[in-house]
Amino acid sequence: MNRDAIGIFDSGIGGLTVAAEIARRLPAEDIIYLGDTARLPYGTKSAATVTRYAERAMELLLRYPVKAVVVACNTATAHALPTLRELTDMPVLGVVEPGARAAAEATRTGRIGITGTEATIRSEAYHRAILARLPDAQLTAMAWPLLVPLAEEGWLDHPVTRLTAETYLGPMVAAGVDTLVLGCTHYPVFKTLIASVLRERFGREDVVLVDSAEAVTTELAALIEDQDLAAPERAGRRSFFCTDAPERFIRVGSTFLPGGDLGSATAIDL
Ligand code: DGL
Repeated sequence: MNRDAIGIFDSGIGGLTVAAEIARRLPAEDIIYLGDTARLPYGTKSAATVTRYAERAMELLLRYPVKAVVVACNTATAHALPTLRELTDMPVLGVVEPGARAAAEATRTGRIGITGTEATIRSEAYHRAILARLPDAQLTAMAWPLLVPLAEEGWLDHPVTRLTAETYLGPMVAAGVDTLVLGCTHYPVFKTLIASVLRERFGREDVVLVDSAEAVTTELAALIEDQDLAAPERAGRRSFFCTDAPERFIRVGSTFLPGGDLGSATAIDL
C-alpha cells in the first residue's frame, strides 16, 4: 500500500485525457497533474528542446510525493523517455509503447495509421514500437498538428474541426487503414467527431481508434498491483498545476473531463 500520488504531465490539457482515464479506473489514487501551458506546443519543437522542457516538468513533479510518473504526452515520450527515466528510480510510464501494443493487437489487416504531432511522427517512435511487434505491418504516418490548438480552443465539434478531420483522414482512408493510432493525448477528445467523419464522409465504420489513454492506464493499473503500490480505499485527491494562464487551463481543461469540472489549478513557474 502506498499513499503517494500518480504524477502526470503534458504540454497542456491533452494529458487530461489520460488523467481522466486514470481517475476513472483507479479512483482511490491521488493525482498531481502538470500542464506546461507556458511552453505549449511541444510538437513543433526540436528533440533537444522537448527533452529540456520534459526534464523541467518531471523535476517539478518529483518535488511532490509521487510514486509513479505518467508522461501523458506522446511528443515528450517519443523524444525524452530514457532521459526522464534517468532522473528517478520510480516507475516512469510513457504513452507510445502502450498505444503501439494496443494498435498491434487491434489490427486485422496490418494496415495501421499513425497520427501525432510533427515531432512525434518525425521521431518514428510508433513505427519502431509497432514493427517490433508486427514486422509486416504497413504503416501510414501523418502529423495532425492543427488538432492541438483546436483542442486547446475547446472546439470539440466545430465545423472547422470537422473540415480539418476530413482533410487529415483522407490519406488514411485511401491507405486502407483498419486501425488508427491517436498518437497525441490531445486527440482523444475528438474521438466521437473522428468516428462520425469516418462513417459519414468516408463510409467507414470499421476503423479502430486507438487511444493511448486507455492503454497506458491498463499498464499503470498492472504496475500498481504488481508492485503493491495501491492507495487505500478512499476518494483520491486531484491537484492541477500549469505554467501559465490557469483560468484558461481550468475553463478549457474542464471540458476534457467527464463531469466537466476541474476545480482549481495553481500557476507554477518551472
Ligand atoms: N499532447 C501532446 C502529445 O501527446 C502534444 C501537444 C503539443 O504539441 O504540445 O504529443
